[in-house]
Amino acid sequence: MTRPARSPKDVYELVLLPGDGIGVEVAAEARALLALIEPKLGVRFAIDEIPCGGKFYLEHGSRDWPEDAEARCRAADAILLGAVGWNGPDGQPVNMKNQGGKMAGWSPVIGNRIKLDLYANVRPVKVLPGMKHGLAGKFAEVWQAADVDMVVIRENTEGLYSGMGGVLETGGRASVATDTRVITRVASEKVIRRAFELSRERGRGAPADGKKRVTCVVKHNVLHGCKLFLDVYKEIAAQYPDVEQDVAIVDAFAMFVLTQPQKYDVVVTTNMFGDILTDLASVIQGGMGMAVGCNVGDDHAMFEPIHGSAPPLAGKDRANPMAMLLAAGECLGWLGRRHGDERLIRGHRAVEAAVAAVIARGAPLTADLTTPERAAPRSAVAAAVRDEVAARLA
Ligand SMILES: NC(=O)c1ccc[n+]([C@@H]2O[C@H](COP(=O)([O-])OP(=O)(O)OC[C@H]3O[C@@H](n4cnc5c(N)ncnc54)[C@H](O)[C@@H]3O)[C@@H](O)[C@H]2O)c1
Repeated sequence: MTRPARSPKDVYELVLLPGDGIGVEVAAEARALLALIEPKLGVRFAIDEIPCGGKFYLEHGSRDWPEDAEARCRAADAILLGAVGWNGPDGQPVNMKNQGGKMAGWSPVIGNRIKLDLYANVRPVKVLPGMKHGLAGKFAEVWQAADVDMVVIRENTEGLYSGMGGVLETGGRASVATDTRVITRVASEKVIRRAFELSRERGRGAPADGKKRVTCVVKHNVLHGCKLFLDVYKEIAAQYPDVEQDVAIVDAFAMFVLTQPQKYDVVVTTNMFGDILTDLASVIQGGMGMAVGCNVGDDHAMFEPIHGSAPPLAGKDRANPMAMLLAAGECLGWLGRRHGDERLIRGHRAVEAAVAAVIARGAPLTADLTTPERAAPRSAVAAAVRDEVAARLA
C-alpha cells in the first residue's frame, strides 16, 4: 500500500522493550549504541523504556507490561525489543493464568505483532566474512560469505500462533488441548507480495546464479492452510514474471537451507515454519547471537534479535550483543527509508560495517563465536562495535 511520503524528523520516538534475562542486557547495549550515534548523525532518539516480560508479571501479578504500554508502542516511530521469557519459582516458564495461560511476555512480542499488524517478520540470513561456525564444540568456516545472502519472510500474525484454541479440563485436569492454525487469504497475500517486492528491491538474486527468486515453503501435500498459501503465492507470482518461482516442502527445506543456501534469494513461509527454520538458519550465520528479526507492517515496525532471554546466560556478561546491535541498525535503516532520512541510512550502514569489522578481526567475540580461552564478555564486544561505529561516523 502506498503511504504518504514522510520527512526527516529532529527527534525520533522509540520504544525500548528490554524484557527478561539477556534481553535486558543486550537492550542496554543497543541504548548505548544509539546514544553514541545521536550526536554523530545530528539526530535525537527519545527513548521510552517500558519494562515487560515474565519478571514483570511475577512482580505485578496480573499483567506482563504496564496498562498504557500498547498505546505507547502504537504512538512510537519504531520499537526495539530485547527478549522475553522467565521461569517461575517452580523452574517452569511463567504463564499468565488470568489470560488463558499465555506466556508472560506475550503482549510485547506476539501481542504487538498482531495488534500493530506487523505482518512480515523479515529475517536476513548472511554470513559475515571470517565467521567461524561453532559446531560440535569446534570452530571452523563451514559456510562462506559468498554463498549465503537470503532473506526469510515469515507470516507474523496468524498460523499456529494465532492464539485460537484452548484446553478442556475434565474433572479439573487438562485432558484436551487444541491450537488452531489460521491461514487467511488476506494475510498470505500481504506477506507474499512483500516477499516478491523485496526480491525486486534487492535485485541481486541468489548467490548461486544471480536469479531473483522467491521460494515458498509449505506442506501443501498435507495441510489445507498450506494449499491456500501456495494458491495465493502462485497468483501473486504471476504478477512478477521477472522473479523466479520456487516451491519447497518444509521438511526437505530444513535440509536444503543448510546444504544449498546459495540457491536462495527470498524465502516466504507461514508463522511457525518460519520461526523454526530461521533458528535453524541462524546456525549458518554463526548462531542466534547473530540473527535479527524485523517485524514490519505498513504503519509500525519492531526490531529484535531472534533469540530469547537465555536464562542460563543471564547476569553473566556472556550473551552475544551483535544480533541486538544489528536489530538497532535495521531499525535505523527502516526509519531512514520511511522518512527519507539519509543520516539514519548512514547509521544503519555504519552498524552493519562495524559488526562485520569485529567478526573479520576475530576479536573480541563472545563464547558462541570462539573458543572458551579466547571468549570475551558481552560488554567488551559491544564496546568494540561502538568503537567501530564511531570510527565510521567520525
Ligand atoms: N522473541 C522472544 O522474546 C523469544 C524468542 C525465543 C524464546 N523466548 C523465550 O526465551 C526463554 C528461553 O528460551 P530458549 O532457551 O528456548 O531460547 P533462547 O534463544 O533464549 O536460548 C537458547 C540458547 O541459545 C543460545 N543463545 C541465545 N541467544 C544468545 C546470545 N545472544 N548469545 C549467545 N548465545 C545465545 C544460548 O545457548 C541459549 O541457551 C523462554 O522463556 C522462551 O519462551 C523469547
